[in-house]
Amino acid sequence: HNHIDYATPEKVREAIAANDTHADIPDYETLEAYRAEGGYEALKRLRKDGDWEQVQQSMLDAGLRGLGGAGFPSGRKWGFVRAEEGPRYLAVNGDEGEPGTFKDRYYLERTPHLFLEGMLIAAWAVEAETCFIYMRDEYPAVLEILRREIAGLEAAGIVEPGYIDMRRGAGAYICGEESAMIESIEGKRGLPRHRPPYVAQVGVFDRPTLVHNIETLHWVARICREGPEILSSVEKNGRKGLRSFSVSGRVAKPGVYLLPAGSTMNDIIEAAGGMLEGHAFKAYQPGGPSAGLLPASMGDIPMDFDVLQEHGSFIGSAAIVVLSDKDSARDAALNMLRFFEDESCGQCTPCRVGCEKAVKLMQADRWDETLLEEMCQVMVDASICGLGQAAPNPIRLVMKHFPEEV
Ligand code: NAI
Ligand code: SF4
Repeated sequence: HNHIDYATPEKVREAIAANDTHADIPDYETLEAYRAEGGYEALKRLRKDGDWEQVQQSMLDAGLRGLGGAGFPSGRKWGFVRAEEGPRYLAVNGDEGEPGTFKDRYYLERTPHLFLEGMLIAAWAVEAETCFIYMRDEYPAVLEILRREIAGLEAAGIVEPGYIDMRRGAGAYICGEESAMIESIEGKRGLPRHRPPYVAQVGVFDRPTLVHNIETLHWVARICREGPEILSSVEKNGRKGLRSFSVSGRVAKPGVYLLPAGSTMNDIIEAAGGMLEGHAFKAYQPGGPSAGLLPASMGDIPMDFDVLQEHGSFIGSAAIVVLSDKDSARDAALNMLRFFEDESCGQCTPCRVGCEKAVKLMQADRWDETLLEEMCQVMVDASICGLGQAAPNPIRLVMKHFPEEV
């Protein structure tokens, strides 16, 4: 759970100014070390005489779901992409932009080859012609690690030179939305597309594209190496699987915690060393700002996809931010809406204007709840992508659970 200082904006700026983006690369498992532990054997075996449908079944048996945040069953995506005529592509979403999420970075800075082998297995399964990795530029150490290790894979003959094509993001949150990411990979401005067609049918350069998040691919490799039971055998509160929670805020030990998927917020706080001294648990952001805020009284519900949805929220990428009695839920919601206002791509009016007006209304002494609710509904109904559709969540949840503050 170490905090890595070099990734602070100041350090990054210093490193760039000194033309030294190689600074402070953490110790990670190199290709040599990974191969010494049987790494890339699963890929080799599958490429030789593997049956992609069997591997797909393992993903379904494991219960692997998209860990970028949407939780779509990963094995089913493979089926959608395979059903389309080639050439097909794979695009990795490494644009971990959800405020409070840092689990992808955590894995990439430690075990990059689990991700890379998982990616190559998924690429094999859908017969992808190229793998695009869209990596957030704010992770200089990760970019350097991937550059080095991909070169190593090419030198070792595990991939053809150029098969893995790494693209750098430029700090736009919206480029983490899969179709905006694809536009960006194609060299265009990152504007989300209407769905359908889904990217499985019309993706990068209009070709069928398998899009996966970094952590999802990390688990693809682990399932192939260790069996689907690695996820399916873990059970808690009636839920199966494991979840990597990025925990920050008013806890004693912020960090990434791998816990059963059925864990409650109270379990997560306990795992993170309890609340900071002098702070009492008041509220939590369960899955990035798009998931809004829930009160401490809901600290005992399993943090899983369906359960949180029943409460007007979602687990998303499991970006947990813990608020205490020293924090204002209203201010936190305003902060979230400012973020959305800033990051809205602006192509549709309900989101572009809705976020801006919401910020103004939320700065008033008393919130005009009727007007805010009306606007929230329009944003949910008429925004093109998840940003505008989810931006009302913090407003609605704070009005519901913290009425005294608004
Ligand atoms: P979604 O549920 O619409 O789609 C999820 C995936 O399934 C996509 O790849 C989509 O193409 C595919 N899919 C869904 N239905 C399909 C169908 N009928 N046919 C073929 N493919 C289908 O969710 P979306 O909008 O892609 O993602 C939303 C999530 O992203 C939120 O839960 C949010 O938490 C998360 N998010 C994560 C961020 C991060 O930094 N990790 C940043 C912002 C949001
Ligand atoms: Fe852009 Fe917002 Fe519309 Fe999404 S909802 S396409 S971010 S304006």
